[in-house]
Amino acid sequence: MFLRNTWYAAALDREVGEGLFARTVCNEPMVLFRTADGGVAAIEDRCCHRSLPLSLGKRIGDTIQCGYHGLQFDATGRCIKVPGQNSVPPGARVQSWPAVERHGFVWVWLGDETPDEAKIPDMHWNTAPGWAPMTDVLHVKAHHRLVTDNLLDLTHETYIHLQTIGNRAVAETPIKTKRDPGGVHVTRWMLGCEPPPMWKPLRPFVGAVDRWQLIHFTPPANVVIDVGMADAGTGAPDGDRSRGVQGRVINAVTPETETTSWYFWGFPRDFKIDDTQLTEKLRAQIVHTFNEDKAALEAQQASIDRNPAAHTIDINADAGILQSWRLVETMLEKQQPGLGPAAKPFAREI
Ligand code: FES
Ligand SMILES: [Fe+2]
Repeated sequence: MFLRNTWYAAALDREVGEGLFARTVCNEPMVLFRTADGGVAAIEDRCCHRSLPLSLGKRIGDTIQCGYHGLQFDATGRCIKVPGQNSVPPGARVQSWPAVERHGFVWVWLGDETPDEAKIPDMHWNTAPGWAPMTDVLHVKAHHRLVTDNLLDLTHETYIHLQTIGNRAVAETPIKTKRDPGGVHVTRWMLGCEPPPMWKPLRPFVGAVDRWQLIHFTPPANVVIDVGMADAGTGAPDGDRSRGVQGRVINAVTPETETTSWYFWGFPRDFKIDDTQLTEKLRAQIVHTFNEDKAALEAQQASIDRNPAAHTIDINADAGILQSWRLVETMLEKQQPGLGPAAKPFAREI
């Protein structure tokens, strides 16, 4: 069960070009391509004649010619030509979805309500002037909620990411959680702590730092984290970041199926933005870090699959996660009244 009247990141902007790009979103196989006007089309990746994936066909202008018997489909999914006959049979069309490019990602809308571009999550740092861009995507064999759970409780950095962004301060500092109508905020201020390995060389910190992680979750599975650190005691918690460095950890998690996800991420930063060597060094460390998450998430999903009804407990650090679950479950229940426990992806003992 997926939320449908919402935007999902379907591709990095650079993944969609002249060719045909296949991707499955919420169990819907789609083919994406860029039209002559620079827009992006997203149509069903299945020919309505004999079901060959259209991504195996070829581009002819702003249309796709099926690679099997040559039927031709426009960017709205309508069949406009059948070889060897003058007419197109009624009903010769495939599904299409609104697609919009924004913040370095291509977003698609699967629902039946009119899409509202204003509801695309704010990830503008990915493409804003004054920020060094860095985006990528990772395939994770785990439910998308496990990925957002991971991002809403960064305690795990202390145990999984010790080589890059984790140290004792993260797990030892309690979080604060706040919910608003559109999302969940989880904040953690680690005052007077050691910078972790990845951050240490980013600025010659002379000693301890005040480090922040300000997490904002919006449904269905988007998480933007304001991260950074400044020399301890120089006013960062009160808004003065002049003695520090900052970035945004951008995360748009898209279900591929019930138990697999596309994890679109970005790490724009606003310091040393022209230092491409630094960008590549950071990229390598972040890829390493996210691959550690991927290994944990896939092992977690496999464990859940072995025993979906196993007893689990919650701890204080789960506060933001539990709020995000409630928010999504309320929206699923609204989408399909009477859904009840089916809104919960994992069986849980209460
Ligand atoms: S399967 Fe596409 S034209 Fe026949
Ligand atoms: Fe992580």
